Amino acid sequence: MNELVKTEFFSEFWTFYISAITLAGIVGCAVLLKLNSIKPTAGAVKLHGHTWDENLQEYNHPLPRWWSYLFYITVVFGLVYLTLYPGLGSFKGVLGWSAVGQYFKERDAADAQFAPIFDKYMKMPVAAVAADPDAKAMGERMFLTYCAMCHGSDAKGAKGFPNLRDKDWLYGGTAQAIETTVLDGRNGVMPPGMVQGAQVNEVANYVLSLSGAKHDAALAAKGKPLFETVCAACHGPDGKGNQQIGAPNLTDGIWLYGSSEKTIAETITKGRNNRMPAFKEFLGPAKVHILAAYVYGLGGAMEAEPAPPPAAAAPAGGPSAKLYFDSGKADLPGDAAAALQAVVDFAKANAAAKVAISGFHDETGNQAANEELAKERAKAVREALKAAGVAEDRVEMRKPQVTGGGGDNKEARRVEVSVI
Ligand code: HEC
Ligand code: HEC
Repeated sequence: MNELVKTEFFSEFWTFYISAITLAGIVGCAVLLKLNSIKPTAGAVKLHGHTWDENLQEYNHPLPRWWSYLFYITVVFGLVYLTLYPGLGSFKGVLGWSAVGQYFKERDAADAQFAPIFDKYMKMPVAAVAADPDAKAMGERMFLTYCAMCHGSDAKGAKGFPNLRDKDWLYGGTAQAIETTVLDGRNGVMPPGMVQGAQVNEVANYVLSLSGAKHDAALAAKGKPLFETVCAACHGPDGKGNQQIGAPNLTDGIWLYGSSEKTIAETITKGRNNRMPAFKEFLGPAKVHILAAYVYGLGGAMEAEPAPPPAAAAPAGGPSAKLYFDSGKADLPGDAAAALQAVVDFAKANAAAKVAISGFHDETGNQAANEELAKERAKAVREALKAAGVAEDRVEMRKPQVTGGGGDNKEARRVEVSVI
């Protein structure tokens, strides 16, 4: 609160200046009143000399007493007011009242009054709050106050501000992901200048091709390898994005900044740095919970984490295997050969069959390092298959969309192997 009660006056001069003008004005009024209240001596009653309407003239009689007393009262009132309340520059008044202070007092009173209601919703999961009409009305009011200036009153967003009604999520559309976004804020950073010159248009055309938009096929073909080396790290080899860092899906035809080649080239050349503010401190978790539920209820939200990618699920018919790794390690587990036996046998018997490998990690530690670890684990399994006689070109490394988590930590540190 103290942050907000700072005075507007940065130098003492202005306090003096304003106080002087205000007080001089009040004293001036009093003097004027006094001068106009003096009764002329009997002989000195005379006409002022002002003439209206040819025959209407004015004597120098004093103001009526009742009228001047009323005026004196306002002078006294003014002085008392300026002593008690702020009005003279940065002087805060002896009562210490302030408009901001009053606001905080009213807000705290309201918070106390509504605390039981917020408590009730805080204990309910987001999906349940979203289904509650009262909570929805509260959420809508708060959304219009705190979010609409960026996301629009219909929550459909604008250039650079994501649409919150569609199923395209930068950071994930589960109840939990939405709540985390609003609590902690987000900062999507696309670095500038990773490709230059003619390469910009090549890669931009490849990006256009990803969503089936109009593009120049020859340029796109040149852009493909560039994309795979430079852009895939964040947007994924297939361009489907990465919700951990808010790298958008480039294949769905939904654009944060626009679908023109010019806009895409601009993103590539200049980069983007986009920020969603954090609301944890400002609104507190209880209000954020209701807001998250409101966004969840807008129709675009996801039920739960997206289902594991197809690579992870064993296709009907072929055998599959899971290998579990030690924490922080990519060394093959001792039972690797035995675990892989069925897959190896099947691959040897079916020359057309390929083997897909997906590496996973647990959620402890650094995300980038974990993803690298998951990849190393998958590579170790590829080596093991090679050693068992399955040629490298029959093995497909598949990076799962979500590489982290799944069950407990032990279960999470796995490599899934399946025949495709
Ligand atoms: C100052 C502008 C601004 C305000 C105010 C704002 N947002 Fe955002 N919001 C953004 C931006 C910009 C992004 C995208 C961030 C990025 O690209 O990394 C975003 C992203 C989001 C996302 C993630 C969308 C996705 O696709 O994953 C959600 C959810 C969200 N905002 C909800 C809210 C809610 C709820 C409020 C009100 C409490 C709010 N925002 C207020 C600017 C704002
Ligand atoms: C370090 C990670 C990273 C790399 C590498 C990266 N991007 Fe991005 N890109 C992002 C993020 C994050 C955003 C979203 C920025 C935002 O929220 O405003 C983005 C946004 C974009 C957009 C805007 C999408 C839209 O919906 O409007 C395009 C197009 C794009 N990237 C293309 C590329 C291309 C092409 C490359 C390779 C030259 C590339 N990116 C490399 C992280 C990356």
